[in-house]
This record gives sequence, C-alpha cells and structure tokens, in this order.
Amino acid sequence: MRAIQIEEFGGPEVLRLADVPRPDPADGEVLVRVTRAGLNFADTHTRENAYIAKHDLPFIPGTEVAGVREDTGERVVARLPGRGGYAEYAVAPESAVVALPDDLADEVALALLIQGTTAWHLYRTAARLRAGESVVVQSAAGGTGSLCVQLGRTFGAGRVIATAGSEERRSLALELGADAAIDSAPEGMADRLLEANGGRPVDVVLEMAGGPVFDESRKALAPFGRLVVYGISSREQNEVRTGSLLKRSQAVVGFWMNHLSDAMFGEALGDVFARAARGELRVLEGPVYGLSEARRAQEDLAGRRTSGKVTLDVSR
Ligand SMILES: NC(=O)c1ccc[n+]([C@@H]2O[C@H](COP(=O)([O-])OP(=O)(O)OC[C@H]3O[C@@H](n4cnc5c(N)ncnc54)[C@H](OP(=O)(O)O)[C@@H]3O)[C@@H](O)[C@H]2O)c1
Repeated sequence: MRAIQIEEFGGPEVLRLADVPRPDPADGEVLVRVTRAGLNFADTHTRENAYIAKHDLPFIPGTEVAGVREDTGERVVARLPGRGGYAEYAVAPESAVVALPDDLADEVALALLIQGTTAWHLYRTAARLRAGESVVVQSAAGGTGSLCVQLGRTFGAGRVIATAGSEERRSLALELGADAAIDSAPEGMADRLLEANGGRPVDVVLEMAGGPVFDESRKALAPFGRLVVYGISSREQNEVRTGSLLKRSQAVVGFWMNHLSDAMFGEALGDVFARAARGELRVLEGPVYGLSEARRAQEDLAGRRTSGKVTLDVSR
C-alpha cells in the first residue's frame, strides 16, 4: 500500500511516500480502509521525536483516520496508537473505532475526533468553566481553537476572546462567535487581552503555544483564574514558581487527551457529534492535501498558513 514513512527524525523533508506492506490486524484490532487521514499539530513534533510519546524508526505518522472497516463495511473514524494514519490502510484497537452516523461526513467526524474531544474536555475537565466567566482561546481559527470558540459559548462563557495570527483568521474567529479577536503575536498580548475584556483580567486561558504567549497569558489572568496548557507549538517550555501562583491565587493546569478514559472520550465525542449533526457546532474544513503532499501539508500547518481541520485524501 502507499504510505508516508519516516525513516529518520527531522524536518518536513523526512515525510516520504513509500510502498509498504498492508498492516495485519491482531486479535482485538480492526483494519480500516482509509479515505481521509487527519493532521494534528502534534504530528509535527512526532516527526522530530519531540512529542510526549516517543517513537522507534521507521514509522508511519498520523493518529486518526476516517474510512471503512474492512470486516463489516461500516463507515468509521478511528484513533490510532500514536502512529499509522498517513496510509491507505490503518490498524486500530477495536475500542478506538467509532461507527459514523449516516448524516456525518468523514471530514466532519475527523475534525471532531481528537480536536473536538480535546476542546470539550479543556472546558469541562481542565478549566472547569463556570457560567459567565471570560475565556481566551489562543490560535482560535485552528483545528482545535475553532471548536473551543464555539464550545465556550455552549458551556456558558460570559465572553470569548480569540487570538489569531492574521486578519482573515481573526474574522473567522468572530464569525464562529468570539466577542473579540486580537493578534496572537506575543508582544504586548497581555495589554490587548485586558483591553478586549473591558479592562478586567480574564478567568480562563486555553493556551497551546508556550514561550512568551504563556507568560503574556498569565499576566492577564484574574485571581482564581485557570491557565490551561495543552500544547507547545512554539517548542518553548516555561517555568512556573509556586510562590507566584499562591501570590495571585492562580492555577496552571496541564491537559493531554491520552489520559481520557474510554468513558470520558465517548461522552465528549457523542456530544460533539450530536451538536454537529444539529448544526450547533460548525466544523471549519481546512485544506485537503493528497497523501503524497503530506510534507507540504505539515509545512503549511506549522507555518501558520492554515485554518480549520487539515486532512489528507489518501487516494491521491
Ligand atoms: N493536549 C492535547 O491532548 C492536544 C490535543 C489536540 C491539540 N493539541 C495542541 O493544540 C494545538 C493546536 O493543534 P491543532 O492540531 O488544532 O492545530 P492548529 O491550531 O490548526 O495549528 C495551527 C495554528 O497554530 C497556531 N500557532 C501558534 N503558535 C504557533 C507557532 N509557534 N508555530 C506555528 N503555529 C502556531 C497558528 O495560529 P495563529 O497564527 O492564528 O496563532 C497556526 O495557524 C497544538 O499545540 C497541539 O499540539 C493538544
């Protein structure tokens, strides 16, 4: 089968198309004929072996696919155990394969599988948002951010403040329901956040860039505010001193979806699928690349040139 295989860790150039054997499902696993593979920002870290979970070479990147179960013919989406998605066929544990309702398109389901469940649990499990609180969604036109903006409203946020790196992406965030949209560049961000919140500090920040964006987000955080860290897109980590937390009564909370139990995952997925089917949650479909264009797809994602959900059409 055709697949993208990584034989050495490095930049986007290590994403090469290869002809590899079709994987064999073991007991308890399911073979999926892939129609679309989802890209996640984490794939750009995995390519460098710099993500939370580490890899042995060679491997096929990609942690989520949409397609058809080979054994039953059902349309499904599947989460993969850290690898295997950028390919014509993928193997997933049966517990991570979800049948799709007829009215949910592959690309919509794929956008909700990892990014939708993450957005849901950022509010419900990590930030524990209370009605009326103000929320900042960093990089709000991205795959995860665009869903965070909308779920902020759903879960009762009093004000949703979006950040994004271009005028076009800021307009998108406003269209999705943000009350204000500011530049995601770190310089002077704390002041822009306070201004966007009527001069008051904010209750919750959903933060995935790290480095100076984290520091600026903290400066704008209210007492009893929660700064939820769920990514390090800048590849810069931050230090937090405990004294400074207690001095300001602030919390810094980490989130990684791999810690969700099957029940937690299922509750969130069922809810976002239902909201999308009812038209309450809009999936921002991003660019679609051919499998052979995986390198360009990752370059565009990491180069801040995309919005919405980025996918690979594995038939081309
Ligand atoms: N912890 C978890 O379980 C989990 C699950 C899903 C996603 N995530 C994390 O959430 C973040 C978003 O992931 P995604 O898959 O939805 O991707 P995405 O938001 O579509 O990623 C692309 C966007 O990231 C923003 N960005 C901010 N700082 C960046 C930087 N230094 N370099 C490049 N882009 C930067 C850019 O938006 P602007 O230019 O508009 O700022 C860019 O357009 C990633 O950090 C990812 O690792 C974590």
